[in-house]
Formats: sequence, C-alpha cells, structure tokens
Amino acid sequence: MDLLETIKSKITQSNERSISFYEYMNLALYDPTYGYYSRAKKKVGKDGDFYTSSSVGPVFGEVLGDIFADMLQTLTPEEPLYLVEFGGGTGGLMADILEEWKRKSPGLIERIRLVMIEKSSYHRALQEQKLRAFPVQWLDSWESLCFSASGIRGIIYSNELLDAFPVYITEWTGTEWVEIRVAWNEEERRLEEVRSKLAHAELESYLGNEDIHIPKKQGFRVEINLDAGKWVEAISEGFTHGYLVTIDYGFLRPELYIPARSNGTLMCYRQHIASDDPLVDPGEKDITTHLNFSFLIEKGEETNLNQLGYYNQSQFLINGGILSKLQSHDETDPFQGIVSKRNRTIRQLIMPGGMGETFKVLVQGKGEVNRQVLGLKQQGWV
Ligand SMILES: C[S@@+](CC[C@H](N)C(=O)[O-])C[C@H]1O[C@@H](n2cnc3c(N)ncnc32)[C@H](O)[C@@H]1O
Repeated sequence: MDLLETIKSKITQSNERSISFYEYMNLALYDPTYGYYSRAKKKVGKDGDFYTSSSVGPVFGEVLGDIFADMLQTLTPEEPLYLVEFGGGTGGLMADILEEWKRKSPGLIERIRLVMIEKSSYHRALQEQKLRAFPVQWLDSWESLCFSASGIRGIIYSNELLDAFPVYITEWTGTEWVEIRVAWNEEERRLEEVRSKLAHAELESYLGNEDIHIPKKQGFRVEINLDAGKWVEAISEGFTHGYLVTIDYGFLRPELYIPARSNGTLMCYRQHIASDDPLVDPGEKDITTHLNFSFLIEKGEETNLNQLGYYNQSQFLINGGILSKLQSHDETDPFQGIVSKRNRTIRQLIMPGGMGETFKVLVQGKGEVNRQVLGLKQQGWV
C-alpha cells in the first residue's frame, strides 16, 4: 500500500470520514516506509529540497562549537556532561562543531558525551557515515537517554527540528474556532480540507491563551504545534543543569499573528520551490510551520527551564564571534576563492532579510547556568 492509499484507508476507517491535519502531516513526513523523512532521498542542500544554515558551509557549526565550548565551561564537571543534537539531518552540523573543538578545545571531545537523537533511519545512516571518526552515540528518543542516565547535564540543541513537527490547523469562522481536517474527495480523486468542531480540549486551551493576540478576521488560520510544547516539557523533566538551544524560524506572539499571516505559516518545499499545497503529493515534499516561540518560552518557565536569551540568528552568531572569522584576501592569493566563499557564507548567515533574520535562536537554561557566555553576551549590534 503506498502513502496515499494508507491515508485514504485511515480516512475511510474513521468515524468522521476525515483525519486531523496533525495525523495527515505525521504520515506525510514520518510514515516509516513512505514518509518524506523516512525515504532515501536527499533533502538538505543543493541537490535536495531546502538549505539549512548548517548546509551553507562549516562556519555556522564552527561558531556554535565556540559558543557550546564556552557554555560547557560554566558547568561543573563532576558528573558526565552531554552534548545532544536532536534531528541532525545529514550530521554535518555536529561534524562542524566537533572539528572546531578538535582545533580549539583539545580534550573536550573525549570529556563530553556526544549523543544524536534522530527519528529518520535514512538521516541516521547519513549521520553515522559523516561522524564515524567521532565517539558519538545514537538514540531514537530523549526518553531512552533519560532512562540510561539520572538527570542530564550539558547542552541540548536543534536546528530546524520543531518546524518539522506535525501540527493541528484551526480557523476562525467569524464566530468560533474550527479544526481543518483532511478528507478524500472521491469524485475529484484528491485529498481535500474539511472543517469540523475542535477535536480536543488542548486545542481550545491553546487558542484561549493566544486569543487576545489574534486578529479575529474570518478565515484567520492558526497552526498549533502541541508536540513542540511537549518536547520542551520532556526535555525540562530530564534535564538538571544546562542549556537548551533551539534554532528555527518563528516569532513571538505579537509578530506571529499579523494580518499578513492570516493564512497561517505552513509551507512545503520541494527542489527549492516553495508552495502551500500540503495535500498534493504527500511524502514527496517537506511540510513546515513557523514556531510560536512565546509558547515554548512559557512551557519552559512552567518547569524552571528559564529563558536566557532570544535573538535573531545574526545577533546570536555575532555575539558568538562570527565576525572574527571573516578573512581578508587579495587577487594574488591562490586560496582567494576559498576565502571569499567563506566570507560569502558568513554574509548569508547574518544578512538582514535572509537567514540572519528569518531564523531565531532561543536559549533556555536550568540549574547552574550563566548569561555571560558566548552567544548570549551582547557583542556589537545588527
Ligand atoms: C529539517 S530537518 C533538519 C536537519 C538539520 N538539523 C540541519 O540543520 O540541516 C529535520 C530533522 O529532524 C528529524 N526529526 C523530526 N522529528 C524528530 C524527533 N521527534 N526526534 C528526533 N529527530 C526528529 C528529521 O528526521 C530530520 O532529520
């Protein structure tokens, strides 16, 4: 049975003759055989469907390596310290961080327990290949790490993880909130959206919280990423001391709910072409939504995982010293091509209007943490 057949059969078997968008997105991205992230097809980089900050060059990982080394220094080393990456894609980001540590912080790689938590077996295989020179352990969930250690200390980070979590979609009708679900249109032989009453209390409570920020215009859409909130809660539960660094696109509430985003923020990416038609060709393209960083901050604060900093990517990388990595070059230098490419990558990562502004960095901390570390300590301004 292919993915469309699997989706159709779930729809047919359900009482409502429809499935939630959450269930649909979960199948489209993570069905173990046909889901976008399970399939053996290149996703990140030039021949894939989208670029990430780590795929444009090693500088991003080098700066994160410097920031993480500085953060780890603030934690007392009497128990094991961890560096955990969630959803590492090709493994390139962890590799760039560890190469930077090898050059600048000898001994750190041996001292820190390195863990990758990855859901996709395709990406896990790429990571194992990329990181074969380093002592990295792979796990498929945070719970299995917490089970094997009593209280995690260190750094947990992710780049473009939470935007790929499945979401519910809701819409304001003018008088009430309804849920957008997915049904099968037999006549036209295609998947289609249908509207129905809100399925469960968590959606109502989420919307209740957001309510005063949302312009109540008929048709205004809000995507609800409950799993992102649960992820922050689960991390906080197993974490005793350290930093949670979340890099992704998204906004705080006042910016998220503006009239220009009345159709929500959901986008699909296939071969670097963006579209907003998630119900066409499930499994063939990435589906993403912007994060509600206010929600993640609150979820953390409920369990003593406190906000230490929220920056756009430019500011965070400048705080972390990215500008010191710019190099001068002249026409006679035989390496000038390499140097100018590296400088271009730096520009791409921090330029306003591009990655530097689209991506945000949320740093949350628990226990013995320090705000005076690289990345958080303000250096310059953009
Ligand atoms: C958009 S890719 C990000 C790739 C990478 N971080 C980068 O910077 O290029 C999202 C990654 O998160 C993984 N992922 C999604 N949900 C996950 C989860 N709950 N736990 C671990 N990995 C997950 C996907 O399999 C995929 O590798």
